[in-house]
Amino acid sequence: MLVLGLETSCDETGVALYDSERGLLADALFSQIDLHRVYGGVVPELASRDHVKRMLPLIRQVLGEAGRVAGQIDAVAYTAGPGLVGALLVGASCAQALALAWGVPAVGVHHMEGHLLAPMLEAQPPAFPFVALLVSGGHTQLVRVDGIGQYALLGESVDDAAGEAFDKTAKLMGLRYPGGPEIARLAEQGTPGRFVFPRPMTDRPGLDFSFSGLKTFTLNTWQQCRNGGDDSEQTRCDVALAFQQAVVETLTIKCRRALRQTGLNSLVIAGGVSANQSLRQSLERMLAEFDGQVFYARPRFCTDNGAMIAYAGCQRLLAGQHDGPAIGVQPRWSMETLPAI
Ligand code: KG4
Ligand code: ZN
Repeated sequence: MLVLGLETSCDETGVALYDSERGLLADALFSQIDLHRVYGGVVPELASRDHVKRMLPLIRQVLGEAGRVAGQIDAVAYTAGPGLVGALLVGASCAQALALAWGVPAVGVHHMEGHLLAPMLEAQPPAFPFVALLVSGGHTQLVRVDGIGQYALLGESVDDAAGEAFDKTAKLMGLRYPGGPEIARLAEQGTPGRFVFPRPMTDRPGLDFSFSGLKTFTLNTWQQCRNGGDDSEQTRCDVALAFQQAVVETLTIKCRRALRQTGLNSLVIAGGVSANQSLRQSLERMLAEFDGQVFYARPRFCTDNGAMIAYAGCQRLLAGQHDGPAIGVQPRWSMETLPAI
């Protein structure tokens, strides 16, 4: 089955062609980062308008790269939520229009299920069951995964998502959007141990997270340094490292608890923050305690992309699931409500 996947939930237009027999044939992405950077964050209306401009040229591009024509496509998968309503509607209308024109089914995919399944596109995919740590700009969740659509939420952020904490902290420190890669870059030059920040909610039982206090703690430290006349690049790097280490260690502590609680020794990390090298290394060290393994996608499939949507949609289509012709999106959508396949 040849599936065209479309991703438009936020500030990236992602398109991919996935073949259930041959795997991923082609994928293309247009990132709107430069468009939103001047505003310090995503402007929803600009995002929607840009998705409209990019979608059809990207579809032509992946068809060309894969050496396929529209008539060979068996189904269209698109991100139906969660995300920005206008941006989602661009992908949903485009998918439904193409499906109608080509006489094929369309299927709406849950964006976080797409992230969760992205490591399945790698050479050594994880086997069910496993614990998944979903860390994106909008979500921080620990999930027990027993199969596609069999998701039990173990814990989640009570305030900012991990990626959001990176982005907001970076902004407070005068860094560029998106903040995650910027903080990671500065942290590489940081002096270990110069600052040590709190590991929020690790002193009590449970698997929930809270990152908004850490953001304020980081800002206060940075401001104290500046008020004392130290706004050097080295200090900025040292603060970035302390922040990143606090997030990484907090996530690692909660993942260790989730593995103990479930008795599992496979951990999948997915979403934009799973591209973070320090997080990957810390989790790999921790999984050694369990004689287990960490799975993640290649960096470009950690952040938003069309390949994960084509793959997840294909699995649901193969199980006989698809949408009716109505165009609908779900800006807020719990993954636990998804049907099992
Ligand atoms: O999954 P994603 O592309 O979009 C959402 O679904 O939200 O995640 C984007 C988030 C942003 O907050 C970005 O700052 C963060 O992922 N991110 C990173 C890194 N690369 C992207 N955070 C930390 N380290 C990175 N290397
Ligand atoms: Zn995402």
